[in-house]
This record gives sequence, C-alpha cells and structure tokens, in this order.
Amino acid sequence: MILKYNRVVLKYISLILILVSFSFPAKSELSIEETIKGRKAIFSKNYNTAKRVQSLASNLDFDEAKSLMLEMSENYKVLLEYFPENTKEGFKTEALLTIWEDKENFNNLMSKASKNMIELASVIEDADDIKGTIGKLMWSNCKSCHNKYREEH
Ligand code: HEC
Repeated sequence: MILKYNRVVLKYISLILILVSFSFPAKSELSIEETIKGRKAIFSKNYNTAKRVQSLASNLDFDEAKSLMLEMSENYKVLLEYFPENTKEGFKTEALLTIWEDKENFNNLMSKASKNMIELASVIEDADDIKGTIGKLMWSNCKSCHNKYREEH
C-alpha cells in the first residue's frame, strides 16, 4: 500500500520536473557585446583558417586542408545565429544595416559560403587549377558578401 502510494508520488514529481525543464530555454542567450565580439572573432578565425587552407592545398597537403575547409563550413553555419536585430550597432561593428533590410539574401550568401566549403573539400584533390578552384569556391564568397554587407575598412 505504502509502496503503491510512493510510486504515484514519484510519477507526479517526475512529471513536474519534465514540465519545469521545458519552461527554460535550452541555450543561454548571448549579450549584445558577446554577440558582436563573438562574430568578429569567428570571422577573424575564418580568415586565418582560409590562409592556411590556401597554403596547405598549394603544398598538396589535402587531408589537413580538407578538415579545415569543413571547419570553416561549420563556422559559417554558426554565424547565421550571430546577427539578431539588436546587434546593428556598437562595439565597433562593421556590419552594414543592409544585412537586416535584406536578411534573407544575407543568410543565403552565408549558407552558400558554407556549402561551397564542403564542395571545395570534395573537389580540391582532383582539381587541375588548385588556386583557381579555391578562389572560386572560397575567396569569392568573402568578397561578394563584404561588398554589400560590410563597411569599407
Ligand atoms: C555572408 C557574409 C560574409 C561572408 C561569406 C564572409 N564575411 Fe567576413 N564579414 C562579414 C560581416 C558582415 C562582417 C562585419 C562583422 C562585424 O563587424 O560585426 C565581416 C567581418 C570580417 C572580418 C573582420 C573581423 C573583425 O575582427 O572585425 C574579417 C577578417 C573577415 N570578415 C574575413 C572574411 C573572410 C576571409 C571570408 C571568406 C573566407 C569572409 N569574411 C566571408 C560578412 C561575411
């Protein structure tokens, strides 16, 4: 009898625990400062990685180059979450307001840059023109996004 009563109580307690855990956001929200500084840090890191990719591939070190390409692809996906409406200004951001006027196109460019890095990893080893292929699938995406969405610097 007592055992049965305990089981019912346990059931209710676990139900309450499940409900409580759903009412909290899963991810902690970043502050405006953390978001702007965070995206600048990711872009800087990608720039350094891009230079490594170029030099590794030129030296025919494809394994390491490919793993860095996939890392850059993932970083672009993360960056999609780093441009919320409340981060249009401050903390020396170079982001242009056109990003938010044109968010769908901006996000499409980011996703294209991400997919192109995966494509680059799959074709680089057999490419006739290594430098040209990297230019087309990596550097051109930096340029076309910066032209529209980043301040002159
Ligand atoms: C889809 C758009 C997009 C793509 C693709 C993109 N960038 Fe950027 N990049 C930006 C924006 C927007 C900023 C400004 C961020 C800010 O200041 O808040 C930026 C900033 C930067 C910065 C400055 C970071 C800092 O410390 O202030 C560097 C460096 C950079 N990008 C390099 C690159 C390189 C290299 C590539 C390609 C391999 C690239 N970006 C691809 C949009 C893009």
